[in-house]
Amino acid sequence: MEYVLITGITGFMGQQFIKEYMEKYKNTTVFAIIRNKGNRPAIERAELQRFKNYIEEGRLVILGGSLEECSVLDDSDKLKLLVEKVSEIWHLAGATDFEETKRENTFRCNVNGISNILALAKQFKKLHAFYHYSTSYISHKGNGLVRVPEDCLDSCSPANTNNPYEESKLLGERLVAGSGLPYVVFRPSIVMGHSQTGEAESDKMVYGALKCYFWIKQFIMKQEGKAQDKYAANRLRICANPLATKNLISVDDVVEASLRAREKGDLNLAYNLVNPEPTTVTEVCDAIFRTIGTDFFVLDPGVEKENMNKLESLIYRATSLYKPYMLQDDPAWDMSNTLKLMKKNEFHKFDFEVQCKLYKSYIQNRLLTNSSFTKKMQFVK
Ligand SMILES: NC(=O)c1ccc[n+]([C@@H]2O[C@H](COP(=O)([O-])OP(=O)(O)OC[C@H]3O[C@@H](n4cnc5c(N)ncnc54)[C@H](OP(=O)(O)O)[C@@H]3O)[C@@H](O)[C@H]2O)c1
Repeated sequence: MEYVLITGITGFMGQQFIKEYMEKYKNTTVFAIIRNKGNRPAIERAELQRFKNYIEEGRLVILGGSLEECSVLDDSDKLKLLVEKVSEIWHLAGATDFEETKRENTFRCNVNGISNILALAKQFKKLHAFYHYSTSYISHKGNGLVRVPEDCLDSCSPANTNNPYEESKLLGERLVAGSGLPYVVFRPSIVMGHSQTGEAESDKMVYGALKCYFWIKQFIMKQEGKAQDKYAANRLRICANPLATKNLISVDDVVEASLRAREKGDLNLAYNLVNPEPTTVTEVCDAIFRTIGTDFFVLDPGVEKENMNKLESLIYRATSLYKPYMLQDDPAWDMSNTLKLMKKNEFHKFDFEVQCKLYKSYIQNRLLTNSSFTKKMQFVK
């Protein structure tokens, strides 16, 4: 029996990761650090319903606690078990908000939280790898001119980050690389839903923008007929560079590459988990607009905040966190290490049709079944 510690299994990637991991490595017991939510203890979290069988079988053991506190350290029995048995750690937990107003919380989780979990890991007697999830956007500013190597040396600078999230992820991976523990850093690009099922427990990045456009379109459709004619003739300008490159990767490719790294990868390096075939902002937005069935929007990199109408301002505010990603070309990522794990043709492609399929599944399974969204629509009426 092998023992591993995993964080972040209630999140978008963590849920897919643990599903694959449990299926692939049957002779494994997983300890998962999960936060309590409100008054609910971690073990009662709704996200764990789908893993009920593993919990009942004793293959998945829930440890309540946050990264900030690492309260598992306070429980001497559990700590002893981890110290004696755990041979690998998969650190997927992270604060994924981009807002400047959330900087403190983001750093508390993505920097201090990592220090805590590294301190815990250093006590483990059998640890042979600390697998850490960073982001490929650790050095983003520079409109395509920045090159991101597959190591954790100092060539990437916090000055080249766009928000506290990117900055904290850069500092976090440096802590991992400097810890003296055997490590692997994974840097996924923009993670999309499962290539087969479309499943995506996410409301951020592309899905965040999709949600906004979908909501605006629904709003317009609820107006009198003339309003619809007005927006069809005078389309709403979205501040975006149509030609900017964007890199999308499916969540199953991220998990597959990670598990291959475990099987045959080297230690003490980074993997830029990016798609060898990037797409563009135009293609992403066209696929979204086609899926939601509207031509009310147009991409305009030059639109000024001051000259926007009310709906344009609303869209701008709702998607302002994604502005750097909508306007700038992606950096140039080295993929030498990653291509030793996956061949170029093994990555799922995100052409127009594939994207439309994913967005359709997201709208059906997440937006139209989400009660808070439905309530919002009633309010608009
Ligand atoms: N999704 C992407 O496009 C993408 C791209 C590149 C890198 N990444 C990285 O991949 C990892 C997973 O991303 P994701 O998309 O799955 O994020 P997510 O859906 O936001 O999930 C984040 C996970 O981290 C947990 N977490 C957050 N703060 C915590 C804390 N203080 N203590 C304990 N657990 C905490 C969350 O627990 P709760 O359920 O309790 O909130 C959740 O399980 C993150 O490190 C992220 O930076 C993601």
